[in-house]
Amino acid sequence: KELFKDYFPIGAAITPQHADPNTAHGEALLEHFSSVTAENVMKPDHLQGNKGTFTWDNADKIVQFARKHNIKVRGHCLTWHAQTSDWMFYDEDGALLSKEIALDQLEEHITTVVSRYKGDVYAWDVVNEALYDWDPDGVIFYREDSPWYQMIGESYIDSAFVYAHRADPDAKLFYNDYNSIFGWKRDKIFELVKRLKENNIPIDGIGMQGHWFVGTSEEDIRTTLDLYRQLGVEIQITELDVSVYLSGDETGSETYTEAFSIRQKQAYRMIFQVLLDYSDIITGVTFWGIGDDGTWLDKPGRKAFPFLLDENLQPKPVYFEVQELVQNH
Ligand code: G3I
Repeated sequence: KELFKDYFPIGAAITPQHADPNTAHGEALLEHFSSVTAENVMKPDHLQGNKGTFTWDNADKIVQFARKHNIKVRGHCLTWHAQTSDWMFYDEDGALLSKEIALDQLEEHITTVVSRYKGDVYAWDVVNEALYDWDPDGVIFYREDSPWYQMIGESYIDSAFVYAHRADPDAKLFYNDYNSIFGWKRDKIFELVKRLKENNIPIDGIGMQGHWFVGTSEEDIRTTLDLYRQLGVEIQITELDVSVYLSGDETGSETYTEAFSIRQKQAYRMIFQVLLDYSDIITGVTFWGIGDDGTWLDKPGRKAFPFLLDENLQPKPVYFEVQELVQNH
């Protein structure tokens, strides 16, 4: 965080248990990170599991920790097809709700959550993963399996941003998605954000999740940033993790080998070089975890080792590689 302080905050996705300076994770957070995101506990199902009943304890813990230690908070996420309770989508008979009810409930959720954390959460992922994913032919635009899309159509995206902006006009509002560096998705994100801006919808930026891997192409990242620059929006890398496996590699290891270390140093050096080159538009970089002990990417027998800190939260060689890069920038 110190080395990057003139460029962008460095964040980590955390659990409420991590928001405690008396734990190893809390210590590592305070030493290395200037921003936090709740990995799960600010998602719709956690905050409003039952209609009208909000559960704030876990999210509050993170926000209070951040406030006390002068750490920024990115909020994730207000509108998503996943980790959202069924009552937001279906009636008692399992039928999709009407557009009117769905929008009312969305407004109520966003207004309540954003108002509560007004002044604490400086940036929100307002809509997460609304676009169709694997579509090399570029035929389908929106994710048609999203109940939000099914109930409301594309305008749920516009409405979500309007509700969030009304509740906190100072918060930075983001559209957040993965696979943004691949052509078919990159262009859709561009088109969506262009449409929102043309319609004067209050959107400040694009969150590129950054679930990358050691073979990720530098050209893909630069092309994407060049394209998004044309929109005049901020960019944040919101969920950075760089798995040690090459794309399509089905093998797995439980130990961090020298080969992994070499690949990962190259990958992270390339990535942070690009991020520094575009630091005029990049306003935040968040890792999707703190250290290699806690990542959604791990599977039995196949650890991903995606971060700069190891399983004991100690800096890996790749940490020093990034350190040297920014020191010489
Ligand atoms: O909280 C329950 C717990 O009560 C239960 O006993 C346990 C049993 O499986 O599950 C717990 O919930 C899990 C939750 O994480 C909290 O740990 C879910 O099963 C699990 O599916 C969930 O995974 C999260 C995933 O989003 C769900 O979609 C990951 O931790 C989280 O890292 C991941 O984050 C997403 C971003 O929000 C959006 N972008 C992609 C990214 C990675 O998938």
